[in-house]
Amino acid sequence: MNQLSDRINKLATSATLAMAAKARELRAEGKDIIGLSLGEPDFNTPDFIKEAAIEAINQNYNSYTPVDGYVELKEAIIKKFKRDNNLSYTLPQIVVSTGAKQALANIAAVMLNPGDEVILPCPYWVSYSDIVQLSDGVPVEVQTSIDNDFKMTAEQLEAAITPKTKMIWYSSPCNPSGSVYSKAELRALADVLQKHPNIYVVSDEIYEHINFKGGHFSMAEFDDMYDRTITVNGVSKAFAMTGWRIGYIGGPDWIARACNKMQGQITSGANCIAQRATITALEADPSSIKYMVDEFKERRQLILNLLSDIEGFKTNEPEGAFYVFPNISYYFGKTIKGKTINNASDFSLFLLEEALVATVTGEAFGNKDCIRISYAASQDDIKEAIKRIKTALS
Ligand SMILES: Cc1ncc(COP(=O)(O)O)c(C=O)c1O
Repeated sequence: MNQLSDRINKLATSATLAMAAKARELRAEGKDIIGLSLGEPDFNTPDFIKEAAIEAINQNYNSYTPVDGYVELKEAIIKKFKRDNNLSYTLPQIVVSTGAKQALANIAAVMLNPGDEVILPCPYWVSYSDIVQLSDGVPVEVQTSIDNDFKMTAEQLEAAITPKTKMIWYSSPCNPSGSVYSKAELRALADVLQKHPNIYVVSDEIYEHINFKGGHFSMAEFDDMYDRTITVNGVSKAFAMTGWRIGYIGGPDWIARACNKMQGQITSGANCIAQRATITALEADPSSIKYMVDEFKERRQLILNLLSDIEGFKTNEPEGAFYVFPNISYYFGKTIKGKTINNASDFSLFLLEEALVATVTGEAFGNKDCIRISYAASQDDIKEAIKRIKTALS
């Protein structure tokens, strides 16, 4: 008999991690799988950051840290927000967490009461919906169009708001679409929110530096949104530090205090060595990671060119992050190699089994017609993967 709580029973397994596990299984059977499913840079953490961590170990940083992070780290975060985003925060407005994922889980736990609605423009990052539901919130999906670069318009936002709407969560650059909201697009959304002063915004900016056109804008930069925006960021993506598990928020101090209280009962704060290394990462000039961004940009062009050569793939042009999110609904209802493809999950599974390429179904991101392909892989792997996909589909 299932003795587990309703809470865990209703939680979905992360689709990206599930796909990675399936790919690992097939690899263990000897199959040569190319993994384009994970949201993880394929670079090593830069040496100057590794050295800072080694030094922290040698300097005996081994005790519990303040729950909300070392003061020196919070100061580095404040400087980073000022330098990169023109945002002014003070120490009580910053909380360091075990990855941006925990920062988001804290926010859900401290902001949502049962039945509170959270608007999620689709496609959204795979965990938003489940993190919201874990805190008894209700995700409200807003479908966007590939022709509008998968961005939510002011009209769509207005139509989704109900008396129960508590928050809006989005990422820009977006995982999985790579879309970047411009200042004007964010202003249009903020104008709608002026009529609804009780709605809060989570602006997830973890891909901020992986932006190919430049011009990153934060919702909190608008004076009238500053007091109700929580800016989420972290070092996983830009600094190739996924395993170090450091994320952080800047936001209203009453929300930061609540997040601090929350993680004080759950983790006692993030890992001390990773926090020391993050000080060095954030203090470095962003040009120190440009080589990774340049490489992602080249790969984006490569994969877009290769995909444009395959029948039935419709893509937008991602402006950031390291994913493409093609619409592949052209294949729905078709039978290839004896396998009938009825939806994006079937298509993604078909690619895994017949092309030996791991991708993720768009259904995990709230979109039924697309799949996510990560190009955090070498150019050779990308070329080989797309060749295999083309062959399997022809
Ligand atoms: C949009 C978005 N937000 C947050 C996260 C979580 O990042 P972290 O590794 O800091 O927990 C990810 C990771 O995939 C992400 O894509």
